[in-house]
Amino acid sequence: MIKDKSARQNTRSQEVYEETVTEEPRINSGRLWDRHMRLAEIGALPRGGVNRQAMTTGDAAARQLLVAWANESGLTPAVDAIGNLFLRFQGRDPEPPPIMTGSHLDTQPQGGRFDGAYGVLAGLEALTTLREAGIEPLRSLELVIWNNEEGCRFAPTTMGSAVFAGALKLEEALAARDSDGVSVADALPALLAATPHAGRRALGSPVSAYIEAHIEQGPTLEANQCPVGIVTGIQGVRWFTVEVRGRAAHAGTTPRGLRRDALMSAVSVLRALSGHFHDPDDVVRFTVGRMQVSPNSPNTVPERVTFSIDFRHPDGSVLTRLGDAVPAVCQRAVHPCEVSVSEAAASPPVAFDRGLIETLALTAKELGIPHMCLQSGATHDAKWVTHLAPSGMIFVPCAGGISHSEEESATPEALAAGTRVLMSALLKLADGE
Ligand code: HGY
Ligand code: MN
Ligand code: MN
Repeated sequence: MIKDKSARQNTRSQEVYEETVTEEPRINSGRLWDRHMRLAEIGALPRGGVNRQAMTTGDAAARQLLVAWANESGLTPAVDAIGNLFLRFQGRDPEPPPIMTGSHLDTQPQGGRFDGAYGVLAGLEALTTLREAGIEPLRSLELVIWNNEEGCRFAPTTMGSAVFAGALKLEEALAARDSDGVSVADALPALLAATPHAGRRALGSPVSAYIEAHIEQGPTLEANQCPVGIVTGIQGVRWFTVEVRGRAAHAGTTPRGLRRDALMSAVSVLRALSGHFHDPDDVVRFTVGRMQVSPNSPNTVPERVTFSIDFRHPDGSVLTRLGDAVPAVCQRAVHPCEVSVSEAAASPPVAFDRGLIETLALTAKELGIPHMCLQSGATHDAKWVTHLAPSGMIFVPCAGGISHSEEESATPEALAAGTRVLMSALLKLADGE
């Protein structure tokens, strides 16, 4: 942040002028909070949460609202082929790749008001405040809204950023289908129609650096009463889909010895998986969050059960060892039924750029904001952008570390503190400090 005299080239008048900014431009924390509450009205649920899944009308409405706010600040929109949205604040020198910030607007089916939304609105607040202060950074700044970060409607998670970074083929992403059989290719046009004036942006366009602000979604910052987290990396994640196949039969007439009950076999497979992933150190994260039973009738023996596995670990070798064994563990436990296992998502653990971590920590220190370093248990789009450019994340606490729940909550002060660090760090990077 410019604290003392600094000479900067003003391209408009082609003259060097002395600028002394004695204090940082101040974000508008009231506006930041109000925008969270306004955005949360889109897809609002009765208990205070939000259901705004990827590429639904709610997702499109949220984009329209965001673009309207961005237009007020003179940011220009562009979209790429997988529906990522970029809002640009042109720098004095348009040549170098932009410094990017952002997150996602899509939510879980029973999501919270801050997961994703915070990173988008903090980035908007930072860029808006800089514009209002008349600051024109050397490099351009861009706010990005990654499409389909959650992956709960269309797998995999972090789809838009994975395609942007070349980690997932566009064709593969477009072919993904939701539980109603709707494909991304079917659903994407309605999302793009939300921003008809947006320009076109190539996939994988150059980025100079990326910083994402996000609620921690875990208990560490609150437990340490620390207002800001500087994220050192993200643990690896693997998703599997398990299908157990038996034979439909009459519930009243079919003796046990003749049954091939897919649900009873699925129960024994789940018991075997629970044992396989049991970790006395409680580092492994093993979750079965979705299960479908077919034909799902109380008086028919189930013929098919499909369930999800979300497996996470910070050590890549453990992720490989335990994850690769999943098909064999299922096979051993499924008799008299059959089983097939497919992998629906995979990303190794990532470590963020050391230099960017130091810049974020120094920035928090300069602003007098207590901070600590920590790993992310949740996955984020930054894990893919880090393969294109130095990337980092700023966390703020959420109550009880609860997220992916209608109970998710954060305070205006927490959101403001993280946004101050974000704005100051973005300006440093954009001015090439
Ligand atoms: O699944 C995750 O970790 C992210 O919150 N979508
Ligand atoms: Mn998120
Ligand atoms: Mn999430």
